[in-house]
Amino acid sequence: MVLSVTEQVYLNGDFVPRLEARISVMDRGFLFGDGVYEVIPAYGGRLFRLEHHLDRLDSSLQGIRMSNPLSRSEWIAIMGRLLGAAPGADQSIYLQVTRGAPPERDHLFPERSDPSVFVMARALKPRGPEIAEMGVAAITLEDIRWDRCNVKAVTLLANVLLRQAADDAGAEEAILVRQGLALEGSSTNLFAVKGGELITPPKGDYLLPGITRDLVLELAQADGIPYVERDVTASELADADEIWLTSSTRQVMPVTRLNGAPIVDGLPGPLWRRIDALYGGYKARVRCGDL
Ligand code: PDD
Repeated sequence: MVLSVTEQVYLNGDFVPRLEARISVMDRGFLFGDGVYEVIPAYGGRLFRLEHHLDRLDSSLQGIRMSNPLSRSEWIAIMGRLLGAAPGADQSIYLQVTRGAPPERDHLFPERSDPSVFVMARALKPRGPEIAEMGVAAITLEDIRWDRCNVKAVTLLANVLLRQAADDAGAEEAILVRQGLALEGSSTNLFAVKGGELITPPKGDYLLPGITRDLVLELAQADGIPYVERDVTASELADADEIWLTSSTRQVMPVTRLNGAPIVDGLPGPLWRRIDALYGGYKARVRCGDL
């Protein structure tokens, strides 16, 4: 799907062509990375796990001491209008709220709260067949992020550097390790499989509570796949039967090479095939309005 350059985005109350949308240089998102965001997929125009995403937005806003500038129905109306430009297409919504653009640059919060709100819809890239055939490579890197990784902050410099380092090493993703524990990817959550059991690190300050992560656990439970939320050491990860990485835009990706070494036979594993089919089924139900 090719979206034209005249496609509209939402910015502070108006719908404007994307290439004409402008924010102030004083915006605290620009100056300080002082804001939060969400990425919400929409299949066939239907938003995926919308309430979960809006709940996480509320908790991210709370984490940076802001209140939500819009009501749920306002968010839904904006997203619906943007998605409506390409009816029936698979897209993702990017939304961002920053602490606004006061007249002076000051680390302290502005006295008057006037947040900036930006929303756009983008085409969701379909997964290439090579992912299911070959999986992807990942490397482990020391986690250099802050201590509030559960807040979906726009301040993503560490994530950007880590992802670029992975790409430079020929890998799709960097799996981040802190004090010997593998936590998540630079923009994905982490799963390992050992002896038929699915393992994922527990939620906390050091990882984003992924919406896809929660759905994978829900699907596993409904299908009788045993799972546990517990710490995963980096050495345990290297010894896993399967590794997966999940996100709204990349769904469930099988990792078949870690730090240059194959995971078992270097091919996507049987439990990944099972969860991928369940995930596909769930998406199909979203598409036809069942969920
Ligand atoms: N990233 N961990 C991090 C650090 C992330 O940035 C993301 C998502 C996830 C997966 O969360 P979810 O399943 O809710 O998408 C985990 C988004 C897609 C992004 O930054 O573009």
